[in-house]
Amino acid sequence: MVAGEEDDEGLARYIDFFTKPGELVMDLTSGSGTVAAVAKKRGRPCMAFDIDEEKVKLTLERLSKITWACDLPQVSEDEEEAEGEDPRPPTVPAVPVSQSEGSRDPDAGWNADWVDTTDVAVGEPLTAADLFSGIGGFSKGFEMAGYRTLLAIDSDPKAAAIYRANFPETKLLVSPIESLSDDEILNALGGATVDVLFGSPPCQGFSSAGKRKPGDPRNQLFRQFIRAAALLRPHFVVMENVPQLASLQGGAFLREIVASLERTGYPGASVVKLEAAEYGVPQLRTRLIIVASRQGLDNPYPLPMLPEKQFVTVAEAIGDLEDRERDEAFGHVPPERAAEMVERLRVLEPGQRLYDSYNSSWQRLWTDRPALTILAHNGSSFVHHSRPRTLSVREMARLQGFPDDFDLSGPITTTMQAVANAVPPPLAKQIALALRPSIERLRSQTAADHPTTDDAAGEGR
Ligand SMILES: C[S@@+](CC[C@H](N)C(=O)[O-])C[C@H]1O[C@@H](n2cnc3c(N)ncnc32)[C@H](O)[C@@H]1O
Repeated sequence: MVAGEEDDEGLARYIDFFTKPGELVMDLTSGSGTVAAVAKKRGRPCMAFDIDEEKVKLTLERLSKITWACDLPQVSEDEEEAEGEDPRPPTVPAVPVSQSEGSRDPDAGWNADWVDTTDVAVGEPLTAADLFSGIGGFSKGFEMAGYRTLLAIDSDPKAAAIYRANFPETKLLVSPIESLSDDEILNALGGATVDVLFGSPPCQGFSSAGKRKPGDPRNQLFRQFIRAAALLRPHFVVMENVPQLASLQGGAFLREIVASLERTGYPGASVVKLEAAEYGVPQLRTRLIIVASRQGLDNPYPLPMLPEKQFVTVAEAIGDLEDRERDEAFGHVPPERAAEMVERLRVLEPGQRLYDSYNSSWQRLWTDRPALTILAHNGSSFVHHSRPRTLSVREMARLQGFPDDFDLSGPITTTMQAVANAVPPPLAKQIALALRPSIERLRSQTAADHPTTDDAAGEGR
């Protein structure tokens, strides 16, 4: 990119076109730092060079006044510098993170309200919005619990194409959310209201799959989720993320999320680790689930459903696809490998890895256990539990709990990555069911307080 002649708006367009949030922008003749400033506003780190010391100083001063890609307050600079676990005592009390097992203890003191979802009926249609929607694992689970997702937003056109195929009635905005104005988001809803806002802000900056990077601008995208909460005013917000978020910067990140929610009118957020296998997903996948309500109620979470002995196993989930013919429309195209590689895969024992340097791919699954956590690996995946090959996209989707009628057509690498990033639909379904009784109560209270209000799904409350 040749910079210099462009105004800020033009530069922003170039930056959006050539890079994604989080990718490095390099300016070899940075002058007074306009490119770096615009890059930072767009959520891209910038490496800038100039021989003029005064201009470099000016650039640094300009950058210090810009927050990452949105305008809510940042965690402090001291915290920003810390890498990984922070041994210093936190400056505000830690946010308690409960494990699903521990929080069933009624004396645990966390404001989580454990709901037996086997008693919850899928009644009247409720409404939702999905941010960072990917291919729609989260939306699928909410749909299974009787919600209509009215609005979804994601910046990746390939994942969005799969989302659109599966949720043709949802209004889908394909754009970096930080580039969308408040009006664009509200207009997309056309005046409808949502009961729940849910979403999975990107977690690459937190995940143990890579080195944790506290300064990664993707870590700041949660602020966009909070912006949307302030705009849409749903009864509940539900944010999903990797459990490592809880310890990033000694817990400062999580505290900032909870405090930002509170400032936005969602007090008393609870933070709970749920294990997907306890909700029937054939995979060990622990996820951090943050729930908060506008009314500051106790936050509903689904009671775990299965003890460890009853976890769904890999063989139960994908055994029937072992020898199934390749079927592109169904997403079952196991990658073909050279004969020598097939022999190397054949001799792997359950749990054994082909390469030490890869975590969670090229590793043989166990037949009689749930799969290990499925991660995005640019097209490589686990080794099949009983065949000398890696998994197909459909097998990965089964291990994430996607139903077979979920359309997975698309380039294999993209689809695999998006399936691996998804919230397992059966886990999302139980989260959505747990919220139902509270939402239904709130809806009927509102209807009683305003008897003339048309309180049909998607209409005003
Ligand atoms: C963890 S995945 C979401 C998975 C999704 N909840 C599901 O269940 O399928 C995160 C998504 O955030 C999207 N994303 C990343 N940066 C974004 C941005 N700035 N604006 C909107 N979406 C973004 C990615 O394209 C990716 O699909």
